[in-house]
Amino acid sequence: MQYRRFGRTDLQVSVVGLGSGGPSQLGQKSGVPAAAAVRVVRRALDLGINLLDTSASYGESEALLGRALQDVPRDRYVLATKFHPAVHEAGKLTLRPAGALTQSLERSLQRLGVDYVDVFQFHGVAPEAYRPAMERFLSEARHAQEQGKFRFLGISEVYVNDGPHAMLRAALADNHFDTIMVGYNLLAPGVERVVFPAAQRQDVGVMIMFAVRRALSRPDYLVETIAALKDRGLLAADALPHDDPLGWLVHDGVESVTSAAYKFAAAHPAVSSVLSGTANLSHLEENVRSILGSPLPAADRARVLDLFGHIEECVVE
Ligand SMILES: NC(=O)c1ccc[n+]([C@@H]2O[C@H](COP(=O)([O-])OP(=O)(O)OC[C@H]3O[C@@H](n4cnc5c(N)ncnc54)[C@H](OP(=O)(O)O)[C@@H]3O)[C@@H](O)[C@H]2O)c1
Repeated sequence: MQYRRFGRTDLQVSVVGLGSGGPSQLGQKSGVPAAAAVRVVRRALDLGINLLDTSASYGESEALLGRALQDVPRDRYVLATKFHPAVHEAGKLTLRPAGALTQSLERSLQRLGVDYVDVFQFHGVAPEAYRPAMERFLSEARHAQEQGKFRFLGISEVYVNDGPHAMLRAALADNHFDTIMVGYNLLAPGVERVVFPAAQRQDVGVMIMFAVRRALSRPDYLVETIAALKDRGLLAADALPHDDPLGWLVHDGVESVTSAAYKFAAAHPAVSSVLSGTANLSHLEENVRSILGSPLPAADRARVLDLFGHIEECVVE
């Protein structure tokens, strides 16, 4: 495994992190039995993965991680969980009441079976929720941090609805956060211009989500996604073939489009760790091999940036 400095936390985190949310939620959404999900977490640790990301709102993920980590020395892993400061219902955003952060964190610690988490993150904060959430919860978070319930404070965006990454731009300007979690992939590399420079200037640890998602792991979704980009005028109609549009990335040690996508996400120097949201043992092993193997050839990376470099918004599912 390779380890990278996690920004100003000064922790060393594995360049591949294990995510327990996304479309898989550690297998809860894809019918993987709990015992098999626990085996995936244990295998991740065996492979040298030390960064584990979860959230109070990922179903039973925290409890599954807690089971897998029961007898693992606490200094062998970096645990990151999250709390949603606001709920979106029927198109309306409602801030959760004061005290909800403390309550959620206590429950997370109990389900994870630990005394503290390394990173506690505000989860999926929409641009319009950011200021009110800070007014209500920042001092509550600092109080929990002073009590030793977590070491570092982080924030993640709602990638799907925040094309210009407005929330993270505001959060980075405020400089409250030691880590951020941002959506980034080869179909939307614009983040390199709009988020990474500020993160690097402020020495913030960067976790990547949406590196492959379904669009870059399932050929049918990729065909649909590329067709939609053409329909919207974000890609010239003749820029890529309809069938197997990214097949040209697969050569010389790059075994698949998924492999190319994980390599792409890990290559940027602003990135501390790329989260892989899988509960499938062979996918996990394959993804680790992809990221640790040779990088995407420079000419292919250049062609990706040429085709998609202007895209900042979430175009994958
Ligand atoms: N706003 C937020 O804070 C937020 C939002 C989303 C995600 N996250 C965090 O980021 C983590 C990463 O999330 P993500 O969903 O964006 O991860 P991702 O790794 O880009 O996508 C995961 C999807 O890709 C599939 N996959 C992975 N490797 C594969 C392979 N080698 N071959 C075929 N399919 C493969 C998985 O299916 P299989 O299970 O079949 O492998 C799963 O459906 C989440 O787990 C969560 O911890 C945070």
